[in-house]
Amino acid sequence: MNLILLGPPGSGKGTQARELERRHGFVKLSTGDMLRTTVLDSKKIGKQLKEIIDSGALVPDNIMVKMISERIEYPDCKKGFILDGFPRTTAQADALEKMLKKKGMQLDYVIEMKVNSKILIKRISGRYSCAVCGTGYNDDFQKPVTKGVCDNCASREFVRRSDDKLGTFRLRLEAYEEQTAPLLPYYRKRNCLKTVNALNKIENVTAEIEAVIGGA
Ligand code: AP5
Ligand code: MG
Repeated sequence: MNLILLGPPGSGKGTQARELERRHGFVKLSTGDMLRTTVLDSKKIGKQLKEIIDSGALVPDNIMVKMISERIEYPDCKKGFILDGFPRTTAQADALEKMLKKKGMQLDYVIEMKVNSKILIKRISGRYSCAVCGTGYNDDFQKPVTKGVCDNCASREFVRRSDDKLGTFRLRLEAYEEQTAPLLPYYRKRNCLKTVNALNKIENVTAEIEAVIGGA
């Protein structure tokens, strides 16, 4: 099963992709995570990427298309993959369509994570993650069972994203509205768009996605 999770910053793409990966073994391909790893690993291109990400703008299409095209050829993607944060422009969606065709792969569903912008600010400003294993948490909605200790790996170190500041978040939301939201009619036309109510509790959103993919 190959899926796209499509939604604005804070709609829960990463949260749901992690859960689907845990349940089904589909590989979570998060372009945001890949970019953040490159920022840490590569001094030269990392600096340029960090500047773009922290400005709230999108990274150029050619970089993103190359990144995904190479990654989906890894053997672990054979069982299925979940694209979290890609495509984000019509040019990326066109490139994805072409590359899947060329590689003999197909897209099963594009899942729209529908929310409203009011709730997003709360989700983004409260978000943090474990510095060791990356498990995601939220000051309001998803606290660790034991305060200050990661549920998954027991680490006591946590990090917040540098692009989660309010000003940058507003620009990220604008980039979504202008450049990514046009993908909704794009995929509706191709009859693969399904919408879930991402305002619901995390576990209820997972249940809605499961209903779409038919408990694969
Ligand atoms: P990326 O990392 O993809 O960020 P984003 O799309 O802005 O989305 P977020 O990761 O902020 O939100 P999310 O939907 O994953 O929500 P989450 O599950 O964490 O991209 C970052 C940057 O990289 C971009 O701005 C761009 O510069 C660049 N980039 C990436 N891909 C690119 C591409 N293809 N092309 C060009 N540039 C690209 O949830 C948020 C919080 O809410 C968490 O704390 C979570 O616990 C909580 N939460 C989640 N669901 C719920 C719920 N149902 N109820 C209550 N709380 C919830
Ligand atoms: Mg994310």
